[in-house]
Amino acid sequence: MTQRITIRRPDDWHVHLRDGDILHAVAGFTARQFARAIVMPNLTPPVTSIAAAEAYRGRIMDALPADSGFTPLMTCYLTDGADAAEIARGYASGAFAACKLYPAHATTNSAHGVTDIRKLTDVLETMQRIGMPLLIHGEVTDRHVDIFDREAVFIETILAPLVRDYPALKIVLEHITTAEAADFVMGAGPQIAATVTPQHMIINRNAIFDGGIRPHAYCLPVAKREQHRLAVRRAVVSGSPKFFLGTDSAPHGVGRKEAACGCAGIFNAPYALESYAQVFDEDGALDRLEGFASEHGPRFYGLPLNEGTVTLERSGTAVPDLIGEGATAVVPFHAGETLAWRVVD
Ligand code: DOR
Ligand code: ZN
Repeated sequence: MTQRITIRRPDDWHVHLRDGDILHAVAGFTARQFARAIVMPNLTPPVTSIAAAEAYRGRIMDALPADSGFTPLMTCYLTDGADAAEIARGYASGAFAACKLYPAHATTNSAHGVTDIRKLTDVLETMQRIGMPLLIHGEVTDRHVDIFDREAVFIETILAPLVRDYPALKIVLEHITTAEAADFVMGAGPQIAATVTPQHMIINRNAIFDGGIRPHAYCLPVAKREQHRLAVRRAVVSGSPKFFLGTDSAPHGVGRKEAACGCAGIFNAPYALESYAQVFDEDGALDRLEGFASEHGPRFYGLPLNEGTVTLERSGTAVPDLIGEGATAVVPFHAGETLAWRVVD
């Protein structure tokens, strides 16, 4: 049985670092495990300009020690009024690494999201031309569509036509949760990829209702049936380069989760690598963890692989019930559990 594994330093291709006090409370967890991260722009107000992205990047760096070695990769939040020229300038200068498409009202702070993808023709044509990735929250928002079907319906009604209309556009379908998503990405060309969270490979929808309502197992897209969890997991551990690590770590203060209308989001950053290692280990695929965590993402984005390594050891990690205190106390994924792996170096 493998006791230790050393992999190239990984990146997180989808994370919410927030702003203000909670940014200061959580940023270090991501910077400790990952060299780079794609930082989601769903702040209030959302990050829609070069100036806003640069200011936010500065606040992230201010929340970290000077020698963290961490590089935030900033994203531009698309609205109906998104400006193709600003986006192209931001990509050329390095201010933006990608654009994020939230369908309006799909999730936290998505009220300014896109109401109709046809409003983005100029932006999408520009992104396709310059090779800039489009990161998609792939759920329809029609309240008549069952919440457990929203990803599959999005793929059929929005994503498939989008891929047909923009055949060279680089697209990352974020935080996939269904067999339909895994199959779509697997069957598409090399310009289509997906990120996968630990929770969507570890829990199914029963976890949200396990003996009572479990707000800390609630995120969007919501966890699906067991057959979908298994399909997503199979795609990831297959070693296909189309799937890479994106935690979607989404911290909310404990009071905002444990409420009559609790926020969506799972805070998995503190033990993300341990969590992913457990998945690959259980599936006899530890040798494929490095590709998923450290290689497939940078290759898709056209960025260099990281130097340096991280080592995990098979020795338990006890996950606390709560991380932080006061208004920024957050319940982590796996709270109260002991994980099989530990990051040692
Ligand atoms: O669960 C989620 N939380 N899903 C999202 O898409 C957004 C995120 C957040 O920002 O809280
Ligand atoms: Zn997210």
